[in-house]
Order: sequence, then structure tokens, then C-alpha cells
Amino acid sequence: MCGIVGYIGKQEASNILVEGLSKLEYRGYDSAGIAILKDNKLDVRKYKGRLAVLKENLDKNPSKGNVGIGHTRWATHGEPSDVNSHPHANSSGNIAVVHNGIIENYIELKEKLIMKGYKFLSETDTEVVAHLVDMYYEGDLVEAVSKVVKDLEGAYALGVINKENPDKLIAVRKDSPLIIGIGEGENFIASDIPAVLKYTRNIFIMEDGEMAVVEEDNIILMKSDGTPVEKEVYTVNWDVEAAEKGGYDHFMIKEICEQPKAVKDTLSPRLNKENQIRLDDISLTKEDLEKINQVYIIACGTAYHAGLLGKSLIQKYVDVPVIAEIGSEFRYNDPFIDEKSLMIVVSQSGETADTLAALRMAKEKGARTLAVTNVVGSTISREADDVFYTWAGPEIAVASTKAYTTQLVSLSLIALDMANKKETIQKEEYNELIEELRLIPEKLEDILKMDDSIKELAKEICESEHIFYIGRGIDYDVAREGSLKLKEVSYIHSEAMAAGELKHGTIALIEDGTPVIALATQDKLYDKTVSNIKEVHARGAKIISLGKMGNTEIAKSSDRVIYIPDVVDDLSPILSVVPLQILAYHVATLRGADVDKPRNLAKSVTVE
Ligand code: F6R
Repeated sequence: MCGIVGYIGKQEASNILVEGLSKLEYRGYDSAGIAILKDNKLDVRKYKGRLAVLKENLDKNPSKGNVGIGHTRWATHGEPSDVNSHPHANSSGNIAVVHNGIIENYIELKEKLIMKGYKFLSETDTEVVAHLVDMYYEGDLVEAVSKVVKDLEGAYALGVINKENPDKLIAVRKDSPLIIGIGEGENFIASDIPAVLKYTRNIFIMEDGEMAVVEEDNIILMKSDGTPVEKEVYTVNWDVEAAEKGGYDHFMIKEICEQPKAVKDTLSPRLNKENQIRLDDISLTKEDLEKINQVYIIACGTAYHAGLLGKSLIQKYVDVPVIAEIGSEFRYNDPFIDEKSLMIVVSQSGETADTLAALRMAKEKGARTLAVTNVVGSTISREADDVFYTWAGPEIAVASTKAYTTQLVSLSLIALDMANKKETIQKEEYNELIEELRLIPEKLEDILKMDDSIKELAKEICESEHIFYIGRGIDYDVAREGSLKLKEVSYIHSEAMAAGELKHGTIALIEDGTPVIALATQDKLYDKTVSNIKEVHARGAKIISLGKMGNTEIAKSSDRVIYIPDVVDDLSPILSVVPLQILAYHVATLRGADVDKPRNLAKSVTVE
């Protein structure tokens, strides 16, 4: 968690750092701070609260200088407070450090440093780094940082400055993302590309164990032990606008509305006119697939919900058993993994700690690994054997929307490609599904036109205390995603239930007027779901049904119906989730919630 940024050049560093941090707030936003070097002084400003608090302070009392580091925090060690905010400095105030990650052995290091007379001000793990740099510093900052990282266990992206070396900032990474922005007469460090995109499109993506010495006119790349490293420049080909709100009130609604394009971008480059799928560099051959006797799909939160569709499709079409499980549980369930297993990890950020840990476990046991991720250069993308990128563009709102639909599309392509290679799918069925996929962006556009009517619906339920979502089969998977979306942005308590399971207990919670959102998009389960809808309707629930155009039977037992365009059952989640996302958005805004940054959440969850 947390976002770091650094600048060295000729401009006012504080402006660039604050601007950069505003693009990283999705990584955490319970405090923010900067440290600026100028005239042999290190000026540290850091405050609990949103970036706006820091900005207000800087507006009143500017911090002038052309070199600096900044941080936006999501607390792990120590509550959000001014003193626990980053940057952290050594006792003499010469050295400042920003950190993203967790130093796992910080207690041991802290005890050693205290024995040597170092005084700690904060409860953070990061403060040890500032004191360690101080301890090892003998005139060469690079050497000092090299020595420090040898002592550190855990995950870190670090930015370090020292007033005795005002011509450089040092950046080093292990298990936390870090990029270097290459400017002209100025250079940058950051946790993520949007932080520097206003200034440069040329980026070095840092790998684990690498360090950069960043000067105004020079960037020296090396391993943290000093061995030189050569790297290609990655040129960002998406627009800075793509990372900004572009006229929408919130990132969440902007990203919901971007779904037709995101799906198209994910789909089109992978399909040729003959309906053949080109899966980038995925090297799984027919022979490889035939050896695989167990597929695992591991992810967290929304990405896990996408994984559930992957499970259904692979199991149905590829003729191989699939287990889909959440990352935080998977490792502790003694999974049986061997070299005949394939693990697919799904992660928007590519940094989620539990998903990454599952991937590493699978690799250790000799399994083949495939990542579905949205972030180029992310840890998961680099560690998996094969990567399939969801070309959703940067997702800024904490609540995932376009990443989810592109994950669904990606998993559908992967399943169909595997089935085609293994010849476990009929040609006609394969072609039908590909043709249906091609129509999805257009159908998504139609769903987005329902925004006004969904907003009216939101008005009817936004005061509710509890809202239930029900569905069968893959409708249940989408119900889980709809429910998560609603609760995380609106703070209304919500649960998703398998429609047939409701009467085994949870139905006791249904009172007169309790909203129940019922998904009934599966032709083969339609009659059964309609019966379940009738059960809750008879007990006074306010039923909002979601069905395919033409399936009018549900209207008889529903107070409201949302119709989505007709679509083949297997792909219906890519459409049916969208009205639920829009509903969650409107309910949250009607309740005055901060939709893009819901309380207690962060976009990138790099702790277990
Ligand atoms: C919910 C949401 C989270 C993420 C989860 C995994 O809207 O965004 O549930 O899906 O934290 O994150 P990634 O996909 O980055 O691994």
C-alpha cells in the first residue's frame, strides 16, 4: 500500500510531488507528506488526512526547492497520524525516506538501533530505514542504501534523499512497485506511471533488487549490490487523460462508462477475422494443456468474482477440473499442486499480496502459472510464466469496475483458446461464443443508456439498511460482485445468496420492503430462479429483477425489472454486472459517500 514519488530537476519540487501524489491517492490516503531539499536544509511537511491537508499547508507556507520526495499513506504499522506519516527522517534531520511496503524485521532492527542510541519518534516500520541510512552513511549515500537493503526483510519501494547529497535521490525496490520517469533536465521516481505522466512518457520499470541513482541529468541503474543494470525504456502509449476524470463527477462512473472501450481494447487485438484467438505471448501448447489435470484460479475480491466465471467456462469447455479460491485462504488449505497443475492468478493491480503469495507457492511446486492483470510491469506480471493483459487502462476508483469486465473477457478468451487447442469444444459453439463476444461492447453501450432509470431505482433503495442479491449459477457469481460493489461504496449492509439457499436461513431477514436484487439471466435456470423470486416476494421483499430482454415472466413477481440485451448464457455476466455497478454508484452518491475513495479501503492491497 502507499504511494511514493520523487523529483529532481529545476522546477519547484513541491508542486510536482503534490501533483504526483494526487494520482497515487488510490494507493492509500490516510496521510500525506513531502520532504524538500534546498540550501542545505531538509524541510519535512507531513499531515494526517487527505492530500488536501498537506496542500493547504503548502499553499500557506510554501516549501521551496528542486529536489524532494513525497508519500501518500495507507496505515499498516501505527495509526494514521502526523508523526506516523512519511517521509521519516533520521534524528539530525539530514536524511529523509519514503517507503511503500512492509519491513518485516523492523522490530529486531529497531531494537538494535535503540541499543546504539537511535531515538524513534513514530510507530512505523519505515523509520528504521532512515536511522539505518544514517548508521551506514560515511559520505556515500549509494553505498549506505546498498548496505541498508541487505538488512531489510519484507517488501519495499524506497525513496531516499540526504542534504549532504543534494544532487541525487536514491530509489530501490523489492516486492513493491517502482518506476523511474525519464525527463529532460529532470527525473522522477514513483509507485505508478500516472504520477509522472504529465511530465514524461518514458519510463524505466524497476525490478526486484534494483536500485536507481537519480540525478537531474542522469539515471544510473544497478542492482542493490552495485552491479550495473541495463534496461529498456518503456514508452507509455496511453494518454494522461485516461488517468484523469475527463468531465465525469467521479472516477467510478467514468470507469463504468469506459467499459465498452475497455472490453473492445481487450478483445479486438486478440481476435482475427477467422475467429482465431491470439493470446499474446502465452506459450501454452496443446501438449502442455493435455498434461494439465487441475486448474486453480486464485484472486481476491472482485478479481476472485471474475475468476468464478473463468472456472465455469474452463470446466465446461476445457474438460478439466477447476478450483477457484480466494488468495488469503488458498495457501492454508494444503492445496494439492504439482507440475500437472496450472494456476491462473487474476489481479487488476498485479500487486495483491495474497494473490502473489499463491502464485509463488504454485511456482515453487512446479506448476505452470498464468497471470491475468492490468498493470504492465507489475510484480505478478513479471513472476508468472505467462501473462495476459486486460487492456482496461488505469483504474483509479478504488471500486473495481472496468477491470472486472475486462477480466471476464480475458478469462473467456483464455477458456475458449484452451478448448479450441484441446479440441474439447464444437466448432459451431466456439464460433457462436466468439461472435457473441464481439457484440459485447455494443450491448454495453445500450446498458449505459439506462443510467437515468437506474438512478431512479437507486433513489428508491438508498435509505435501506440491508440489501440482498440472489442468483443461481453464474448469476450468483455476479450477485456477489453486485453486492460487494454496493457495500464497499455505499456502506449499506448487503449479502449475496445462491437463490435456492436463501430459504435455508437467510430468508428470516426478509421483512416488508427489504430490497432483494434478483438475477435471472440464465435460460436453463430461469424457471427455478423465478420460483425463488416468488418465495421472497411473498414475504414482502421489494424485488428488483434483472433479466434478459424478452424474459417477461419475472415482471409478475417483481416491483421493478432491469432488462439487459439478449446474450448467450455463458457470457451474460459481462453485461449483467454493469447495471449493478451503476446502481451501487448512484446509491453511494445519493448517500453522500466518497465513492472513489471508500473508507478503510485502498486500491492496491500489498499486505496479507
Ligand atoms: C473491489 C476491489 C477489490 C479488488 C481486490 C483485488 O472493488 O477492487 O476487491 O478486486 O482487492 O485487487 P487486484 O485485482 O488488484 O488483485
